Amino acid sequence: MNRHFRVWRGDSSGGDLEDFDVEVNDGEVVLDIIHRLQATQAPDLACRWNCKAGKCGSCSMEINGMPRLGCMTRMSTFTAEETITVTPLRTFPVIRDLVTDVSFNYEKARETPAFAPPAGVAPGQYRMQQVDVERSQEFRKCIECYLCQNTCHVVRDHEENKESFSGPRFFIRAAELDMHPLDARTDRKQHAQQNQGLGFCNITKCCTEVCPEHIKITDNAIIPMKERVVDRRYDPLVRLGRKIFRRDQLEDPVPAQRTAPRTAETPSGQRLPEGPPVGPDGRLEIAELAAPLQGGLSPFGEDMAFPLPPERVTYHHPDADTSPPPAGHS
Ligand code: SF4
Ligand code: SF4
Ligand code: FES
Repeated sequence: MNRHFRVWRGDSSGGDLEDFDVEVNDGEVVLDIIHRLQATQAPDLACRWNCKAGKCGSCSMEINGMPRLGCMTRMSTFTAEETITVTPLRTFPVIRDLVTDVSFNYEKARETPAFAPPAGVAPGQYRMQQVDVERSQEFRKCIECYLCQNTCHVVRDHEENKESFSGPRFFIRAAELDMHPLDARTDRKQHAQQNQGLGFCNITKCCTEVCPEHIKITDNAIIPMKERVVDRRYDPLVRLGRKIFRRDQLEDPVPAQRTAPRTAETPSGQRLPEGPPVGPDGRLEIAELAAPLQGGLSPFGEDMAFPLPPERVTYHHPDADTSPPPAGHS
């Protein structure tokens, strides 16, 4: 049967919804219809996709106003008379048609310090309780579709917040690392609060509602991180220290490099986030991939070396004997 579609067409200078009547068959998803449109009526319709299996996170779009994956939205979820409206993600700048520039998210990923391995434990000798593995496993299901980032009202309606707000996808990364028993960094909470903008989140749970991997972003990551921040802030000893010392003696002042916007200007004058350094062939430098940080300048300053000395490590591995780990450990 034929179904009525309205698809947004345009680019960064503007655009409008275009009407189409398209053939729909049993079992098809919205991405199938976009492909049929490209094959029949709109060969220049731009749409990003890769796996068509809900695993690459590329086909994020808004379908009848709801942020969804095109490849995981069955046509059978709509009534026969319903007009299906497909628009690009609203939070990110449009490149063309349904394709948006999501580099905001890559920039935020680069600002997140990577896992810091503990000193004195060789790779291959790391041991974790299964309960710790399972806790972070949920967050590792993220396919980086950025539907949660697109939904969050903190940046969806307030472009000016993008500088200081990393968004729910990176709160789950912060929580994953803070809960990791082998991560040697002890400043994840401060980073979340001071640099990622955790305090902007007012726990509306909209991000959780749209996550195609059903990650409980708010309940299992954001709320525990907020609790951990508060635990530290109202720790009696920390409060006492705050009364004795001045704020600038307690908290590391924000270095200029942490707050300076790293942007580049296109020939048309549009300001875009600056990407990671690439070689003459346009590929990432291998040093970027091998670096101990996920990318970019560390928001904690460049004077911190890894592995951390043993006295700074919060997790202590049992004596490195050669006996096999007890049952239940991985
Ligand atoms: S719960 Fe927080 S991060 Fe998630 S959408 Fe709401 S404000 Fe944004
Ligand atoms: S947390 Fe969920 S919604 Fe957000 S980027 Fe990951 S998979 Fe997508
Ligand atoms: S095409 Fe990969 S998630 Fe939809």
